[in-house]
Amino acid sequence: MQGVFITIEGVEGSGKSTQLLRLSERLRRLDLPVMVSKEPGGTALGRELRRLLLERHGSGETWCPEAELLLFYADRAQHLEALIRPALAEGKIVLVDRFEDSTRAYQGASGVAESSMDRLNELVLRGLRPHLTLMLDMDPEASLQRVEVRNLALGAEFAETRFDEAELEFHRRVRNRFLAIAQNHPNRVALIPARDPADQVEAAIWQRVAPLLRSSGFGAD
Ligand code: TYD
Repeated sequence: MQGVFITIEGVEGSGKSTQLLRLSERLRRLDLPVMVSKEPGGTALGRELRRLLLERHGSGETWCPEAELLLFYADRAQHLEALIRPALAEGKIVLVDRFEDSTRAYQGASGVAESSMDRLNELVLRGLRPHLTLMLDMDPEASLQRVEVRNLALGAEFAETRFDEAELEFHRRVRNRFLAIAQNHPNRVALIPARDPADQVEAAIWQRVAPLLRSSGFGAD
């Protein structure tokens, strides 16, 4: 049996990680074969790239958007080859926290042309598409506040605890790009309101996942 490929997307603080955990636990309770991973950082190379991308390098040099783009695709290429394609070939349900839509939204919002991403997409994905994308939608004003509260609770002196107006504006552009993707791919993307209580979001996600699993031959109730 071929596996099922599900991605989860959304702006920071939209609750992706919580929901991914809940979904994977539910699938495990049902005794279904699950593989959970994330981008960037699913593989050993990916973890190196994640460190570079998220913690930044020490030189203080500003990276051009294309350099950053290529690092995200390097992570994806390795992730697909080492983990995602083999797991799908083994018939697993593959859950991935962020994938191609994040690149379209974030690097697109940083000014990378769609045509550049189309070319890399062809090289790296070679036609592979998620069967379902759970897109957690939330106003960045509210979602970034969640991140700020979380950082404060962690006592993260080094982490950023407040987002300035320019960052907020960037995240608004990211969100709009996610919304446009959802509109352009209504069959693949389930747009899920993420401000609702976590139990409600979980139920909305399950409503979309259960029928897909049933139609793919996994007995999910
Ligand atoms: P992460 O710590 O995983 O945050 P989150 O819990 O919000 O997913 O950070 C991933 C960051 O990388 C996030 O800011 C989005 C960004 N990103 C891109 O810009 N492009 C991409 O292709 C991917 C996968 C992530």
